[in-house]
Amino acid sequence: MISDELIQVMQTAQTVVVLTGAGVSAESGVPTFRDALTGLWENFDPAQLATPEAFQANPKLVWDWYASRREMLADVTPNAGHYALAELEQRYPYFYLITQNVDSLHQVAGNKSVIELHGNLQRVCCFNKLHVAENWDDSDGVPNCQQCGAMLRPDVVWFGEMLPEDAIDTAFAVSKSADVFISIGTSAEVQPAASLPVHALRGGATFIEINPHPTMLTNRADFVLPYPSGEVLPELVAALNLRR
Ligand code: OAD
Repeated sequence: MISDELIQVMQTAQTVVVLTGAGVSAESGVPTFRDALTGLWENFDPAQLATPEAFQANPKLVWDWYASRREMLADVTPNAGHYALAELEQRYPYFYLITQNVDSLHQVAGNKSVIELHGNLQRVCCFNKLHVAENWDDSDGVPNCQQCGAMLRPDVVWFGEMLPEDAIDTAFAVSKSADVFISIGTSAEVQPAASLPVHALRGGATFIEINPHPTMLTNRADFVLPYPSGEVLPELVAALNLRR
């Protein structure tokens, strides 16, 4: 599964940057977005649920959908791939984990340097995104911000919205400095996240893709590991530990 050449590259790297997508949480039972039949966008229309316009048109539908996803996360735990990434972070002087996921599973698994490009489902803020709400009561509809009165919303990036400026700026900066860039469990269909591997390649990085299915970036990868991340990441860490 893991070639000696790949191990050699990982052993000599000083700066490792990882980009994760929904696929890294699939083995924890969290639905991805675009996998056939099981993906969220297969069963729900993102235009009806994941845009500011959708929220303004039908705040309760959108609030309740995200509340149901938040409740589902309460029973979800990190998988072996998440824990392998937490172990991998300990091996490098410079390690950055950029995630498109909003499920907090990287932090729960122990990763410290997590850059959340698309926000976090566990966080709730007011619609103008100025105030984070620590608690709320949605028993009779969409709650309002106690500080400014605006409707509360999930602190996740919706389609058509800007990404958190500090997160995306940091993500591009660290990707440019990467010796190794590993893209894991993302279809690479959503910008600007999908540009990060290309940015890393321009900076001279070795590009590794971990995904059971090909993506539009697969042909740019120096190493392709077409396996579930929950299987191959522990193998990678074990192979590196053997050669400490
Ligand atoms: P997608 O659902 O688009 O892609 C998930 C990828 O994970 C696919 O390429 C699968 O082949 C792969 N995959 C599935 N199971 C896997 C496994 N066990 N191990 C490794 N890979 C696996 O999800 P994302 O690429 O994360 O944005 O989607 C990016 C963004 O689009 C999301 O952050 C979300 C979505 O709309 C917002 O909500 C703003």
